[in-house]
Amino acid sequence: MYMIITSSPNADGLTAACGRAALEGIRSAGGETELIDISAAKLEPCRICGNGWGTCRNTAACVAGDILADLQAKFRGAEGVMLITPVYWGQPSERMKYFLDRFRRCEAFNKDGSAASGKQVDLIAAAGGSGNGTATCLAEMELWCRHVGAIPRERIGVTRFNREAVLPAITDAAARLVKGAYFKNL
Ligand SMILES: Cc1cc2nc3c(=O)[nH]c(=O)nc-3n(C[C@H](O)[C@H](O)[C@H](O)COP(=O)(O)O)c2cc1C
Repeated sequence: MYMIITSSPNADGLTAACGRAALEGIRSAGGETELIDISAAKLEPCRICGNGWGTCRNTAACVAGDILADLQAKFRGAEGVMLITPVYWGQPSERMKYFLDRFRRCEAFNKDGSAASGKQVDLIAAAGGSGNGTATCLAEMELWCRHVGAIPRERIGVTRFNREAVLPAITDAAARLVKGAYFKNL
């Protein structure tokens, strides 16, 4: 299963268009896929328990009973992942950050190994405004990959200026994620 995570409340927005492009690519290559839009899901921000390090550091589980545990399990089972976020303030959306922050706290020191360890991940930032901050948004997600042991593949910035050209590139990246093309030696 290839997991696509999107994080925009805009059903007709650029992020949603990227999600559709990713779905199309995975399916065209014969992959099974699930698209999870976390923008409307029950997903809390980190509570920053204890003295800053909560119990998640030792248990690999968050005390908040929301969809994070499910996302951790799905990530562990995924053959590849595409993270697609709108660019807000030059960063991933707050929703995506909730996920990234808490997943990292649970998985970075997981005694059984990170659920993201060795996973190939495509990073996509959808910047619908000026396009400023696309690179910093992608850099933040790339750093996250390092912390959780994931392997970043594509870093794709899509703006309202280049969307016609870049949406097909997302479809292509998704298909290559399934085929293992271009990144065979990772
Ligand atoms: C709070 C907020 C901050 C934003 N910051 C940026 C930004 O830094 N750079 C940019 O190009 N667009 C910015 N935008 C525009 C979004 O990237 C734009 O709405 C984009 O299309 C989001 O994807 P969507 O179409 O799925 O909503 C911002 C939008 C919001 C709501």
